[in-house]
Amino acid sequence: MRKAIVAGNWKMNKGQNEAIECFTAMAAQSWPDHVQVVIAAPFTHLSSVAKFTESKSNFFLAAQNCHPEANGAFTGEVSIPMLKEIGVTHIIIGHSERREIFKEDNKFIARKVNAILEAGLIPIFCCGEPLSIRKSNNQQDYVEQQIQESLFQLGDSDIQKVIIAYEPIWAIGTGETASPDEAQEMHAAIRTMISERYNVEIADLISILYGGSVKPANADEIFSGHDVDGGLVGGASLDPVIFEQVINSYPA
Ligand code: PGA
Repeated sequence: MRKAIVAGNWKMNKGQNEAIECFTAMAAQSWPDHVQVVIAAPFTHLSSVAKFTESKSNFFLAAQNCHPEANGAFTGEVSIPMLKEIGVTHIIIGHSERREIFKEDNKFIARKVNAILEAGLIPIFCCGEPLSIRKSNNQQDYVEQQIQESLFQLGDSDIQKVIIAYEPIWAIGTGETASPDEAQEMHAAIRTMISERYNVEIADLISILYGGSVKPANADEIFSGHDVDGGLVGGASLDPVIFEQVINSYPA
């Protein structure tokens, strides 16, 4: 059985004290045992919130980015060993904001995937099309190319460790969500791509999360998709009370 995962991506929000308050509140919440909860906090807060994830076996700490090299002359970057040392278990990579604003391409993201897996951590690999591609109905080819160029270099055992997040760019932070059918359709297509490159058993093991304006009002419907194994949640993860509602929307 693949894992159910609800991940929060705080992006560049919250100061350290507020982050600690949120983690304190989350540590006291009760979540379904079968759902893994991951929070991607800003780099500067990770070491002070790490201890709170020890309160529950299904609570994990993520970074929002990393550099593929372990060390070196890369001013302003943060490496995977640095993150691992302070208790980070998951790393978001290939978020559309990294791709669009910071011009990260599929090849660079592939290097990060390889390095994260080599370090024994879990990549949360984001993919998803812009509005123009959706309008021309080429979204599956677009996402397939992202996956091919960043994930399909992996062998059978490594690909199973990757979490994929499908995030249509037109639904991120816009209040607009893919319909449950649109989400399910793309998730099924992604699973088919993986089963064609690897096999059906491997494809069945990979958690595919949906991201883009997930909130308590739509989470149940989105999570009900057969191939939707949870969510990557931005805005609605910032308030622990609202995020708890999203977590508890995952089907029993
Ligand atoms: P959103 O962000 O939930 O605020 O749309 C999702 C994301 O960017 O991961």
